[in-house]
Amino acid sequence: MPSGAPCQVAADLVDALASGLRSPGRVGPGASPRCRAMTPITCIEDLHRIYRRRVPRMFVDYCDSGSWTESTYRANEADFGRIKLRQRVAVNLENRSVRSTMLGQDVAMPVAIAPTGLTGMQHADGEMLAARAAAAFGVPFTLSTMSVCSIEDVAAFTGKPFWFQLYVMKDRDYIERLIDRAKAARCSALVLTLDLQILGQRHKDIKNGLSVPPKPTLPNMVNLATKLQWCLKMLGTKRRSFGNVVGHAKGVADMSSLSSWTAQQFDPALNWNDVEWIKKRWGGKLILKGILDVEDARLARDSGADALVVSNHGGRQLDGASSSIEALPAIADAVGRDIEVWIDGGIRSGQDVLKAVALGAKGTMIGRAFLYGLGAMGEAGVTKVLQIIHRELDLTMAFCGLRDIADVDRRILVPGTYPTGEALTAAARSPNAAVSAAQGAAASSAAPAALSAAHPAARPQAVQAR
Ligand code: GLV
Repeated sequence: MPSGAPCQVAADLVDALASGLRSPGRVGPGASPRCRAMTPITCIEDLHRIYRRRVPRMFVDYCDSGSWTESTYRANEADFGRIKLRQRVAVNLENRSVRSTMLGQDVAMPVAIAPTGLTGMQHADGEMLAARAAAAFGVPFTLSTMSVCSIEDVAAFTGKPFWFQLYVMKDRDYIERLIDRAKAARCSALVLTLDLQILGQRHKDIKNGLSVPPKPTLPNMVNLATKLQWCLKMLGTKRRSFGNVVGHAKGVADMSSLSSWTAQQFDPALNWNDVEWIKKRWGGKLILKGILDVEDARLARDSGADALVVSNHGGRQLDGASSSIEALPAIADAVGRDIEVWIDGGIRSGQDVLKAVALGAKGTMIGRAFLYGLGAMGEAGVTKVLQIIHRELDLTMAFCGLRDIADVDRRILVPGTYPTGEALTAAARSPNAAVSAAQGAAASSAAPAALSAAHPAARPQAVQAR
């Protein structure tokens, strides 16, 4: 039993008792989910509250946490809040449009569903339901390598193209087969995540003993007893493990402990040469996710990728890194003319999407926001999230005096309230010598010796031709 478990059991018992004692007519923060669902849901936070009641604690904690002190996780949201919009009036606001394109694909708004691990544990068949909601709304859905539903499950269920996110593992045969499976399923873009070769420590996951499916420990059983709807739906599906991995990756006996499995399987040697072979093997649109530095943004552009995502993995990896919105302007200024620059991290509203677009993002990705809708209300909840964000984006753009998302730029923001990117641009002028040397060497496969000499973490096999 993890340390702190007795306290958790006690808290869950109190929670269960409190739910039973609640008056059915009461609404507001203390009301039961069913009762609250009868009051109009008007914002993402409403769905978040229902989500926290309906989904087992270990998966809520997995979603709603960052690494170590969680400073970057908090900054992602807080830094959006500091940016002020300029209110304009007496402008004709008829015939507005927030339609745009991402990678040339027509989208109802510049928002895609981000890849999130374990989504099928937030709600039974979660990836399939979210993909269908996204397709119906007209925004892209990205399936994580670490999903519960498999690539094939989602393809069969939606019948529509979606994007596939790739984590690179040591077993390259498996990775090649995974890429081939994504091609066979007609995935229309590959999202290669570059910021999770190793896993940042999230204290709550360790304390909860995070596993897929949850282990029948006393704290889990008590907590699950308060989540009957979740349990019933989960009993009604056969998808309760990692569908892209189990039965596909060799020698994977037990991946129920996510952190130890990741530590064993993910490839810490991943480098820019790997980006090159993955790009070749995939042969389609490639998106690089996890770029937070101007130097890396230039390398991403030079790799020939089609888009990059400014991201710190939702504050789950390098605690103390800049927030995504703080990093965006410098990266957009440096490479935004050559490659589509998108952002994720901290986006909880249409206002956030508008601010990101104003600071140079051609697209945005939402992770936690869609999970709140999914955990709260399944497919209808994801649709609700998209409707809320769409409406907020449209109306906020109008209040700023604009009718077309294509016209949004920094002029809608109050100077002095938004990040300008100066510090990060200056940092790129005095690069981190060791890392730059290693990256430069890695980018040129002719110089394997220089790579290993310059960067202690780089291993010789990292530069083998693949
Ligand atoms: C995986 O994407 C994670 O952040 O746990």
